Amino acid sequence: MKMAVIGAGIVGLATGAGFADLGHTVQCVDIDTSKIAQLSRGIIPYYEPGLEALVLRNTAAGRLSFGHDPAKVLLEAELVFIAVGTPTGDTGEMSLAALWSAIDRLEAWPQSDVRRIVAIKSTVPVGTSERVESRLRGRLPEHCLVDIVSIPEFMREGSSVRDFFEPSRIVIGTSSADVAEKLTQLHQRLPGPILATDRRSAELAKLAANACLAVKISFANEIAALAEQTGADYPSVAHSLGLDPRIGPHFLAAGLGFGGSCLPKDTRALVRLADEVGAPQTLVEAAVRANAMLPLRMVRKLEAAISDPRRRKVAILGLSFKPGTDDIREAPALRLIAELTRRHPGITLTAYDPEAGAAARKVLPSSVTVCDSAEEALKDADAAILATEWREFRHIPADDFKKWMNRPIIMDGRNALDAAALNAQGVVCIGVGRLPVLPKEFIRRAGELVPKI
Ligand code: UDX
Repeated sequence: MKMAVIGAGIVGLATGAGFADLGHTVQCVDIDTSKIAQLSRGIIPYYEPGLEALVLRNTAAGRLSFGHDPAKVLLEAELVFIAVGTPTGDTGEMSLAALWSAIDRLEAWPQSDVRRIVAIKSTVPVGTSERVESRLRGRLPEHCLVDIVSIPEFMREGSSVRDFFEPSRIVIGTSSADVAEKLTQLHQRLPGPILATDRRSAELAKLAANACLAVKISFANEIAALAEQTGADYPSVAHSLGLDPRIGPHFLAAGLGFGGSCLPKDTRALVRLADEVGAPQTLVEAAVRANAMLPLRMVRKLEAAISDPRRRKVAILGLSFKPGTDDIREAPALRLIAELTRRHPGITLTAYDPEAGAAARKVLPSSVTVCDSAEEALKDADAAILATEWREFRHIPADDFKKWMNRPIIMDGRNALDAAALNAQGVVCIGVGRLPVLPKEFIRRAGELVPKI
């Protein structure tokens, strides 16, 4: 099939390259001409495991190409995916500007008996597919037969290629049985279950999935706080919860909470939509509020470990919103840095991330030194906060923490380190939802943790 994808972000590119790999001819289009120029030269503008190889393989085979003019895509392609960004402001209103801009540029195609399909992959408010349909039908001449469907995307950053080839499910929202059949056949080579439904249900299924994940994470974080206050060990509690098949083991990790380009914006959008139609989502609202409190909670823990933070040097390990990506959008690490500098103006902050350093340098205040290695960030630090659980942080030996840092005090904001092993070797490692165990080399004196003399 001839396809096009409008929007060459991670979702659009992984989808386009994925379908090309299945043998289809795909053009990926983006109005960002510099991005398209990079892609045409085989350069992937973001860090996404496996995507470069997939793109290069299919470009070389002539199945994948790039362009910057969305106007022409329906002249050639029978199926057009729309995968543009739908950002949400603080009010929760989702901006559909990029979607309308794409739709309004689509040009008519010559008389033909092949119907075209426009499939919306972007996360959108419920009812958007119908609005797109009436707008497009109002613009295009009568001979242009087009079906608008909702095929929400559930892929995650950092594993988009794997998620394309092994989807948890494929949801096809359409009002046409023929289109459902055609798209079911198209997706049949992928292993996930295929669910054909109406367009509004497909749109809500996506918003509800992200909201459900957010609620699960905030639940985990609140139980972890309760564990800290009652002397229980949250990782053990989570392990037990996860063994119940009705609950499941995923998305129960406590820490600095959820960030990224989807969960924060989609929860805000769901809450706003729900308010507008009079079906308030009190649980999701509470999950959003609980998530927003986590950076402050971490700063308070730090305050209990080092006195007068504004005279101290603190290293932040990890800046991306999760490991495996260089994306810093709504990253908990950045909210943590904002909270630290708000409460302790003058604090010396260093930061290191294996992939997101360049992106972070552009947005962090100049007072934060973004370093090129963990060693450089940790050098002479009075404490460190692990904000993103990159694998390389797990391999830092206790001796290096002791050698590099002024005081080896690690606040492990993702329970990523082996706290018991580090404590046994003289490093203070304080996790989330667990009682701090002090190494024998440390004592608490005058409101802070200090080495025994
Ligand atoms: C999410 C959805 O998972 C995906 O289905 C959708 O298509 C897009 O949004 P993504 O934004 O890539 O994907 O990140 P995800 O892996 O879901 O993690 C979101 C955030 O939650 C991260 O900041 C992560 O660190 C945090 N998280 C995740 C936790 O704090 N605890 C957990 O147990 C799991």
